[in-house]
Amino acid sequence: MYNWKELLDYINGEIAGMSFERQPAELYAPIRYVLSMGGKRIRPVLMLMAYNLYKEKVEVIGSQAMAIEIYHNYTLLHDDLMDRADMRRGMATVHKKWDDNAAILSGDSMLVMAYRYMQQGCPVEQLGNVMGLFTETALEIGEGQQYDIEFETRADVSEEEYIEMIRLKTSVLLACALKIGAWLGDAPRQDAELLYRFGENLGLAFQLQDDYLDVYGDPAVFGKKIGGDILCNKKTYMLINALGRALPADRERLEQWLEKEEGTYAPEEKIAAVTELYDKMGVRALCDEKIRFYFERAHEILDKVNLPEERKEPLWEMAQSLLNRKS
Ligand code: IPE
Ligand code: IPE
Ligand code: MG
Ligand code: MG
Ligand code: MG
Repeated sequence: MYNWKELLDYINGEIAGMSFERQPAELYAPIRYVLSMGGKRIRPVLMLMAYNLYKEKVEVIGSQAMAIEIYHNYTLLHDDLMDRADMRRGMATVHKKWDDNAAILSGDSMLVMAYRYMQQGCPVEQLGNVMGLFTETALEIGEGQQYDIEFETRADVSEEEYIEMIRLKTSVLLACALKIGAWLGDAPRQDAELLYRFGENLGLAFQLQDDYLDVYGDPAVFGKKIGGDILCNKKTYMLINALGRALPADRERLEQWLEKEEGTYAPEEKIAAVTELYDKMGVRALCDEKIRFYFERAHEILDKVNLPEERKEPLWEMAQSLLNRKS
């Protein structure tokens, strides 16, 4: 059995070995760039780990693992454009280093490449299920991203709506990675389903934490600009709870910041003011609790997977190190 580090090295090696010989080179340069910027590679590693619960030769599904990472990186190109984010993994985002068209078109090509990798070498008897789940997941991610954008201009987003939005934009991809890995490893149906639900809950914790780090992360290691969500009025768990719990005076101050026209204030000023309100209302601790809640749920579901404890250890170890992540 492999641990996280070994699988990470494996997937990084596969990505480093990709060749980009097609023309025009300008279309492929941003793809090479974003894929060489690193990242945690959690989705391919989860897929390989799920497979590895049942089978040893993880390289058999190397192509599918690459597919999920390429797909994820495609979503980042478009997401950064939509979120007006100019830094990722400590480097300039594609639309900043090149331009908007590069992010759109190179992103589109990555989506297509991901489909090719997903299908390549997939056993015919599994192909329909694998491509079906991958396609359904991709549709759900688009839906989640659309809600995320729509919520920016709404002040009455409920916690429930938020959780469903992050389930769609983030969780289902982790869940899909695990389920495809399990299927390809010929896992029992019930286990594959449990691993999907494990991924869903891990994904909820993961996105809550992403939102948390966007405010409270260490700028030296986070790799993205702190406060980006605050500037976009992203309806995060923290903002929703702040709006819900604030006393009238604080709520008014918060709403004033949400309504201010871009360009009429210094970004740092808004980030500092909103963060101060979060601190005052205790939403930081609330978010932390919620993260732990979903991690715990993920653990309970993993417990039900019908395998000996030690077999599931690497997967749980990986989940736990995600809980302590700084980037
Ligand atoms: C970023 O994903 C987008 C989210 C779903 C939060 P990751 O945090 O996995 O990004 P990388 O690939 O490690 O950079
Ligand atoms: C990302 O959500 C979800 C997808 C990319 C589908 P975020 O917008 O919070 O991700 P980051 O913070 O830019 O990585
Ligand atoms: Mg973003
Ligand atoms: Mg986004
Ligand atoms: Mg984020």
